[in-house]
Amino acid sequence: MASTPISISQLKKSYRGKRGKKVEALRDLSLDIVPGEVFGFLGPNGAGKSTTIKILLGLIRPDSGDARLFGVSAADPQARKRVGFLPENPAFYDFLTAGEYLGFVGKSFGMSSAAIRTESDRVLKLFDLTVAAKRPIRGYSKGMVQRLGIAQTLLHNPDLYILDEPMSGLDPIGRALVKDVILELKRQGKTVFFSTHVTADAERVCDRIGVIIGGVFQEERVVGELLREGVDGYFCRVRGLSAELMHSLDGVSCGDGVCELFVSREGYDNFAADLLKNGGSFDLIEPRRRDIESYFLELVRNVGDNRCA
Ligand SMILES: Nc1ncnc2c1ncn2[C@@H]1O[C@H](COP(=O)(O)OP(=O)(O)OP(=O)(O)O)[C@@H](O)[C@H]1O
Ligand SMILES: [Mg+2]
Repeated sequence: MASTPISISQLKKSYRGKRGKKVEALRDLSLDIVPGEVFGFLGPNGAGKSTTIKILLGLIRPDSGDARLFGVSAADPQARKRVGFLPENPAFYDFLTAGEYLGFVGKSFGMSSAAIRTESDRVLKLFDLTVAAKRPIRGYSKGMVQRLGIAQTLLHNPDLYILDEPMSGLDPIGRALVKDVILELKRQGKTVFFSTHVTADAERVCDRIGVIIGGVFQEERVVGELLREGVDGYFCRVRGLSAELMHSLDGVSCGDGVCELFVSREGYDNFAADLLKNGGSFDLIEPRRRDIESYFLELVRNVGDNRCA
């Protein structure tokens, strides 16, 4: 559909790795991003996030499958007109000042000189780069380069933002700023697709998340629904855990007669009954809420387990 900001269908991509060995970076990825949503693309290192993003920006070609931005094939330069893009490791012509660089970006998008001036001032101020903007980029810190990288995505006021790890290299103030900027874009009805490892960041700003592991898309979830699923289980500190009960459980750590373990919500009633029946007692019961981090880690572990099987 022409109005769908991102539509990805059965994307496959492999690289030639060391000694010609084939690396399957994407295996049959399909995903649609709807207008006005903030979508977090999660996955461990090497999962295929940047490969997907590079295909969306036409920087590399897939082996097969289809990727479209607003209905236009990602291979067509027209597809990028309404997109602000932050690459994984932004690198600029470092002899330019930030002001000159933004001028270059604005011209590439066909903006007028007046619009470039106004918008450059706006985005530089937003990212606290107004003073630095007169100095060559080569003198910038990593975080300043990253802030400039995000600032340039906003310059031409695009409808879709594709950001590869926007929080990377930023201090807590910079991260909070980027999250606020993303939320403001959402308020304006823009669409944001970003990759991240930082699950807490995704939790705060995303409407939906999708998880990719080893090039295989696992599932997409609505963040609000995921968080509402509530308590995952209980962290327990107990005394008098019988040897029999201990051996029937995973991940128990004991010392000085006290044992600590995590008990799932489903297993809790039986565990508590067995413990008390055998004369044991609880020192501490702490409910563990499900968050994106625990959801993500569980998914990664499960996939890892299946792979070993
Ligand atoms: N140019 C390349 N040549 C060979 N292999 C590559 C190339 N680019 C990526 N890969 C491989 O493809 C897989 C996916 O890489 P990709 O960069 O997409 O992962 P990622 O999810 O972005 O990881 P990270 O979180 O570390 O940025 C990895 O196994 C990686 O080693
Ligand atoms: Mg990457």
